[in-house]
Amino acid sequence: MNLFLDKYSRTINYLRISITDRCNLRCIYCMPSEGVKTFDHKEILTYEEITRIVRIAVDLGVKRIRITGGEPLIRKDIVYLVSLISQIEGVEDLSLTTNGLLLKKYAEQLAKAGLKRVNISLDSLDPIKYKEITRGGDIKEVMDGIKEAENCLLLPIKINMVPVRGVNDQEIENFAKLTFEKPYQVRFIEFMPFGAKDFWSLDKYIPTEEIIKRITSIAPLIPVDFERAGPADYFCFEKAKGLIGFISPLSKHFCHFCNRLRLTADGKVRPCLFSETEIDLKASLRQGVSDEEISRLLRLSVELKPSEHFLKDGKRVDYLKPISKIGG
Ligand code: 5AD
Ligand code: SF4
Repeated sequence: MNLFLDKYSRTINYLRISITDRCNLRCIYCMPSEGVKTFDHKEILTYEEITRIVRIAVDLGVKRIRITGGEPLIRKDIVYLVSLISQIEGVEDLSLTTNGLLLKKYAEQLAKAGLKRVNISLDSLDPIKYKEITRGGDIKEVMDGIKEAENCLLLPIKINMVPVRGVNDQEIENFAKLTFEKPYQVRFIEFMPFGAKDFWSLDKYIPTEEIIKRITSIAPLIPVDFERAGPADYFCFEKAKGLIGFISPLSKHFCHFCNRLRLTADGKVRPCLFSETEIDLKASLRQGVSDEEISRLLRLSVELKPSEHFLKDGKRVDYLKPISKIGG
């Protein structure tokens, strides 16, 4: 077994691949209303280039792959990419993060192509609020998409919600209550200090501790002992069908569990979400370098992983690219 270890003894076995920086929504906390300038088609990696990188990363010890965006389901022939990656020997888990709008259309084909599961970003359960937050999204399409993903056994269904004070925080309890009836993993992600310009402020940020306090007003939360595969801490209500997770990039340092690398749509490998340090794989790929050279660059990027991020002071970090360009 390959062990891809960094200098802090973290095992790197997870690669998140952003396949497009475009999106069919404009969530208020993520993008300005006019959107952000996106890459030209020739700037983004082809599916063949992505597949080659995955094959080399798997040889180094990567076992889990997640496809993200922007919104990955708007890239042409996404089902074909899923089938290419799922056929690579050594890929044990293949998942996708989506806003769900196109899931109804694609869930069945994705499952057949070898996708294992999906994470759905959903920040409101109220149709009007949803439309407002996403600047135009139709929640019915997302709900139909979630149902279809369930029917196609893209399980477990994970729903990611980012509570923002004054925007959707009054819905925290309703999201948590979903787990009584549905076998979903509802995960609350702390609002991070980057995204749409001038939108983030410390008073909009809600620490996990406060989210938990609100949820325990419904019923006690029971810790769930889960083999840790990512940054979420899991709990459940008694007799609930689903789980409640908390992802706390600001209030809790989970950097020492970090197991991942990111690949941006324009072919840069990024050791840390919160650092602009990147290594350009695309230039090397297009110069015709050997697999060994790509492997060396991947190992170098693991070596560059910082021990932790420095977002603790709650300042907005304007130097970071929008999350739609990095891949959530
Ligand atoms: N803080 C936390 N999550 C964010 N996302 C986008 N911007 C932020 C932010 N500032 C999440 C979305 C989605 C994914 C693309 O990234 O909710 O799940
Ligand atoms: Fe698109 Fe996701 Fe950003 Fe919303 S949060 S605009 S769905 S990339």
